[in-house]
Amino acid sequence: MTIPPIRRIAVSTGGGDAPGLNAVIRAIVLSALNRGWECVGIRDGYNGLLAATEYPGGGLMPLDRNAVRGITHLGGTILGTTNRGNPLRFPVTGADGNVVETDRSAELVDLFRARGLDALIAIGGDGSLAIAQALSQKGLPVVGVPKTIDNDLDQTVVTFGFDTAVHFATECIDRLHSTAESHRRILVVEVMGRYAGWIALHAGIAASADVILIPEIPYDIRRVAEKVAERERKGRFFSIVVAAEGALPLGGGRSVVQEGAVGTVERLGGVGQKVSAALETLTGKESRVVVLGHLLRGGGPTSHDRLISLRFGAAAVRALAEGRFGVMVALDPPLVKYVPLEASIRRMKTVPLDGDTVLTARDLGISFGD
Ligand code: F6P
Repeated sequence: MTIPPIRRIAVSTGGGDAPGLNAVIRAIVLSALNRGWECVGIRDGYNGLLAATEYPGGGLMPLDRNAVRGITHLGGTILGTTNRGNPLRFPVTGADGNVVETDRSAELVDLFRARGLDALIAIGGDGSLAIAQALSQKGLPVVGVPKTIDNDLDQTVVTFGFDTAVHFATECIDRLHSTAESHRRILVVEVMGRYAGWIALHAGIAASADVILIPEIPYDIRRVAEKVAERERKGRFFSIVVAAEGALPLGGGRSVVQEGAVGTVERLGGVGQKVSAALETLTGKESRVVVLGHLLRGGGPTSHDRLISLRFGAAAVRALAEGRFGVMVALDPPLVKYVPLEASIRRMKTVPLDGDTVLTARDLGISFGD
């Protein structure tokens, strides 16, 4: 298939938002305009194309210099995003009233062509990059940019958004030390991260947690209680427990708030409350829970996230200009490199148990409840 020269590119942000999205968009737009290309943003993932009539101003947002002025430091995404309406698993109501998941990716590629869009830069996590890969396989020139506070994407040392989430979680946990100590309480802090423990691990170590519970190491609550008791014996009458939302007890399951319905994914949450209640029973101490939740996704990006976001955005445009399609930009310090999209979505990047970060935590005396 011959690929037409690039004159007009589209940008899409999909899945949960992450600090740094606007910085990526700004870098893409300026780098594209500097090459004489036109740039548009698709609203709300791909809804701006798939459901264009639902947008009074149109589902595509023209992106000129003015549209991206002063947005590097802003959280969220000016394009909007969604973790519903995945075009590969689009919920469609059949004649019998049943909702079934339907693959609309071929229709989406046709819509790109019909709207005169020559290429796509897809900014997203595993779900959005799987969509990008499907569109790429159908012949659309696509470059992916790895986004997620969870840092669970393979093939890149880090995703943008992660540093901001860790930074904020660390600050919150720092603040809990004094109140935990004053009241001689256990403080359990639940953080996001889905099926990976990166945020809990990094923030927990940085903020001197006593216990860190991550999905990669199923915990035995009695071991956690022992850690609290050991601290008591040493005259430390409070304990800080950081629990990743995906943490699970040995032989047990994850805490799920809502099962994934058609076209959606399951929502995790509640492990902090369970751990706190069990520790109260086992230790006889008072315990409180703080769920940081979406606070970790809000606010402006740290300077680290701003920089890698700008580097990722510019590198994505360079990839298109060089005719490198079906790739994801990835951080491999000191460089940003290109990896096949297909490789980036093959597996989830979880915390390696023999990695030096876990070993560091153990050397510092932090318990994983194992
Ligand atoms: O993937 C990012 C993330 O914030 C996860 O850490 C969390 O489990 C999920 O998204 C929450 O999604 P929602 O915004 O739909 O509640």
